[in-house]
Amino acid sequence: MDFGPSTPLSYFNANGKSMIVSLNIPDHISFQMVYRLESKDPSETQLDPESNFTLLTSPIHVARNFRTVASYCGTAGAIKAAAKLLSGRRSLYLITRYNRVETAGWCYTGQCKHYKIEPNAVVVGPIWTSPKSRGKGFASKALQLALNEYKRKGQYLFYIDTEKKNHAAQRVFEKCGFGPPVALYFK
Ligand SMILES: CC(C)(COP(=O)(O)OP(=O)(O)OC[C@H]1O[C@@H](n2cnc3c(N)ncnc32)[C@H](O)[C@@H]1OP(=O)(O)O)[C@@H](O)C(=O)NCCC(=O)NCCS
Repeated sequence: MDFGPSTPLSYFNANGKSMIVSLNIPDHISFQMVYRLESKDPSETQLDPESNFTLLTSPIHVARNFRTVASYCGTAGAIKAAAKLLSGRRSLYLITRYNRVETAGWCYTGQCKHYKIEPNAVVVGPIWTSPKSRGKGFASKALQLALNEYKRKGQYLFYIDTEKKNHAAQRVFEKCGFGPPVALYFK
């Protein structure tokens, strides 16, 4: 049987001590790795003067930024985005440069269909960066700035997940302070 690189998993043992185990899961089995971050202090994050970070939390925000959102997900996508924000529990963050969306990500408070979370925890994802702009730090900066916005509102528990082969996403999480994964799930 082919085993890929071993997967670290962080957990608390019966004494409440944080431990890491290494799992050897056959390479042909695909799974999502779940990361958790507990952090109250906003981190300093600098954007270049041409870049703008925006956190959209209501349909009105989408209406005000309709062209920009539509340039990222199309007109129908922008309408859907506005509808998603109606609940008040979601947000869409963007970094734009010259009205072009470089990177975007969704956040959802208090709910995840794949794993259990605390009521006030924020689940981030999906995240995305325009193919031409990848590797320039946009996703990491945008995620950090989004986490900062939530922390300022008193929300300090964050979850994010990605598939085991998505090394770029894993690096983004690491740069934003997430440690080893805390759980796995199979789709
Ligand atoms: C994942 C994604 C959002 C990252 O966006 P990005 O703007 O390129 O991210 P950043 O530039 O902030 O950071 C990427 C990091 O991953 C690293 N990286 C890229 N490809 C890598 C790979 N194959 N293996 C290891 N590291 C990799 C980059 O070098 C960079 O790290 P560094 O700053 O230490 O050099 C982007 O690749 C993407 O949109 N992918 C398609 C959608 C997707 O997979 N979304 C994630 C689902 S959760």
